[in-house]
Amino acid sequence: MLILGIDTSCDDTSVALLRDEKEILSNVVSSQVDLHAVFGGVVPEIASRKHLEFIDIIAKEALREGKADYRDLDAISVTAGPGLIGSVLIGLCFAKGLACSLQKPLIGVNHIEAHAMSIFLERDVDLPFIALVVSGGHTMIIRIDEPCRYSVLGTTKDDAAGEAFDKIAKYLAIGYPGGRIIEEYSRKGKKDHVMFPRPMMDDNTCDFSFSGLKTAFINYAKHHRIDEKNIADVLASFQEAVIDVLFQKTLRAVKKTGIPRVVVGGGVASNGRLREVFQERGKEGGLAVMFSSPGFCTDNGAMVALLGHYYLRRGIVSPLDAKAFSRMALPGFMKC
Ligand code: KG4
Ligand code: ZN
Repeated sequence: MLILGIDTSCDDTSVALLRDEKEILSNVVSSQVDLHAVFGGVVPEIASRKHLEFIDIIAKEALREGKADYRDLDAISVTAGPGLIGSVLIGLCFAKGLACSLQKPLIGVNHIEAHAMSIFLERDVDLPFIALVVSGGHTMIIRIDEPCRYSVLGTTKDDAAGEAFDKIAKYLAIGYPGGRIIEEYSRKGKKDHVMFPRPMMDDNTCDFSFSGLKTAFINYAKHHRIDEKNIADVLASFQEAVIDVLFQKTLRAVKKTGIPRVVVGGGVASNGRLREVFQERGKEGGLAVMFSSPGFCTDNGAMVALLGHYYLRRGIVSPLDAKAFSRMALPGFMKC
């Protein structure tokens, strides 16, 4: 079974070719980071125009690398949301065109669900498990019972974790995307230089709030000079506050459900310090913590193709007039 997976939810044009559920024949990601960096964040209009310009080229490249032809495909899987609506639409319309002309099934999938399940591209995990999805647009804790059967345990009430990183980096004008740059600075910094607040950390929910932490950082920056001497310390302290909250909330989900297996996905999960904290503290608490490789944490077409396999195996396909969604509830726009 050969499935093409397409993701254009934000600023990466990604197309992958997946044979069955584990054999990644190609996974091509065309990043627009340089185009958006000058603006300090993703400009939705530019993102969708660039997807339109590149989607055809990237899809052909994915097929070329995978030594396949459009006619070899068994189905086309595509992110139908959530994401920047103009960007999602480009991938979805392209996928519809392919499905229609090739007379093959179209499968519209949920991007967050794809992040949560991406671990299966590289390894197996016993079910059920707790997934923490931390990306630029979402911070969510999900109980995964099996592919296509999920319950959301917690979500952010305001900003996503990655968004907080990106906004702080924009405020300091140190570049985009913020998460990777803040991680770089933090490597040389003292994590306890500033005691930033840990919002909602001690309540009894699995929900998050990062907007207050962002404001606390900006207030700190307004009252203290941040320069080359202390920037690493201040950013390391900020990064530690974010990671602390993410870990404590995940631990709460583990305690509430009694499920000692945790999978962390999404762009922020490529952060080295986050991986270290989750591994170390997880071990102390008797948790098995698993991560995808960094390349499968950030947006990619392979995770979308993988969901396509799961859906198709269950006989779930999408109509050719399927809609794109900027917001989209789990378990996906086709209920399992
Ligand atoms: O999953 P992703 O590629 O796209 C979305 O679905 O949003 O995640 C992008 C987010 C951005 O906010 C970016 O700053 C963050 O992931 N990110 C990181 C790192 N690399 C990317 N955050 C912290 N540390 C990193 N190394
Ligand atoms: Zn993503």
